[in-house]
Amino acid sequence: MPSFDERKDMSKDAILEMERTTMSTAEGLQLFNINKRFISDWSSLVNKITSGRVRDRSINALSNVFLTIEMGQCFGLLGHNGAGKTTLINILCGVYTPSTGSCFLLGNSLTSATGIDRIQKLIGLCPQHDVLFPDLTALEHLELFADIKGIPVKERRSTINQRLKEVELYDVRKKKATAFSGGMRRRLSLAIACIGNPKVLILDEPTTGLDPINKRKVWDLINKMKRERIIILATHSMSEVEYLSDRIGIMTGGRINCLGSAKSLKTRYGDGHNISITTHSVDAANKIDELMVSYDMSILSRNGTMLKFKVNSERRLGDFMGDVEEGNISGIKNWSLMNSSLEDVFIKISKNPFLEENDLNEISIEDSIRLIKGELKDLKSDIAKLNQGSVEMQESKESHLDHFDSFAKDIEHHNDNDELRQLIIRQSEKIKDLEDKINALNFQHPQ
Ligand SMILES: Nc1ncnc2c1ncn2[C@@H]1O[C@H](COP(=O)(O)OP(=O)(O)OP(=O)(O)O)[C@@H](O)[C@H]1O
Ligand SMILES: [Mg+2]
Repeated sequence: MPSFDERKDMSKDAILEMERTTMSTAEGLQLFNINKRFISDWSSLVNKITSGRVRDRSINALSNVFLTIEMGQCFGLLGHNGAGKTTLINILCGVYTPSTGSCFLLGNSLTSATGIDRIQKLIGLCPQHDVLFPDLTALEHLELFADIKGIPVKERRSTINQRLKEVELYDVRKKKATAFSGGMRRRLSLAIACIGNPKVLILDEPTTGLDPINKRKVWDLINKMKRERIIILATHSMSEVEYLSDRIGIMTGGRINCLGSAKSLKTRYGDGHNISITTHSVDAANKIDELMVSYDMSILSRNGTMLKFKVNSERRLGDFMGDVEEGNISGIKNWSLMNSSLEDVFIKISKNPFLEENDLNEISIEDSIRLIKGELKDLKSDIAKLNQGSVEMQESKESHLDHFDSFAKDIEHHNDNDELRQLIIRQSEKIKDLEDKINALNFQHPQ
């Protein structure tokens, strides 16, 4: 559980969710106090262990995350760039290990190797960046994943065709992925995620780059998939999250700070009425910006000639509308009045989005060792994910994986911190070297 000091940094909604999660008995997803710390230069941890000194800093990508999602629910995850959405999703899929905390998905622990194995069979993932094989056709992709997911042979053809039709790729099923547009690739990733009847569907920005017609079709598909499943939907589209989600979480700086339905978020965090104004020129926008104070309206956002104001007094709103109609205010191209939208709530909540860096001096040697164990697992999955490139590259990747396996096994076999410390000191140069090589490979062959 979070310490007293940590609780001070948690919002009211986060504390409520913590209580809800600790009492939850429902079958579904439960996250207990998840923290993920990324080490920007993780050899600094080795330094901490070898010399007690720390050179570098780390970043808390997730802090004190508690969450319960019940079966049949779609949970929408909103958050500014870098808020921690993909990190959370990667933890749910077993790609990253949380630095601390535990997660349970349909009764399986995500922090145990057997649990992850079982969970990965229950999950369908549409990652933020498409991971496709350029030389395979859409049909071959689905055949491959149908095989991996163990769909019975006699059901395979009809299931694959159904998924292809749902994402409008049936007619181009024999085309190679390399010939697909960005939107088509996205739809193929979604079809792959949906194949095999996954109990949990995790969608990281599934409709980014889709045209409005295909976007609607994908929404219908997600809505249809909702029954008897958990859906986790990370997105930057307010209309999407509002249309599809039963509950929404807004992340800022690695924390889920606000939780609730779209309606309750707007009621609790919205600002009542807003006015949007578009002006003919930037000059006119400057004048309107100054003028609106006299109508008791305060600026919410401004983007060039587009301004948005909060209405503080209904009476002065009437005065403003009268003045616009009578032509007393110049420079306005068009304007509209509306209730607070989810976007307003999002902007308000995300005003201070930057993550704070933590000084590793505060970390104990025991914590450093624990973090190194987690980082090793993550690095191993980073190597495994590297694209298949030249033969040379493939050999290099395999030798890294071999090295990793032996090192990870050594680490697993040592529970005594003193022995681990000695082991890490002995291996410190190799670890640093390994990290440099992975970075170089990542650079040469980005995913
Ligand atoms: N492998 C990594 N190593 C180090 N830092 C990382 C790593 N992955 C993510 N981060 C950092 O963690 C933070 C959260 O990143 P994440 O990708 O989860 O954000 P996000 O909410 O998905 O953003 P976006 O909307 O841009 O997709 C960022 O500060 C990012 O730089
Ligand atoms: Mg992301």
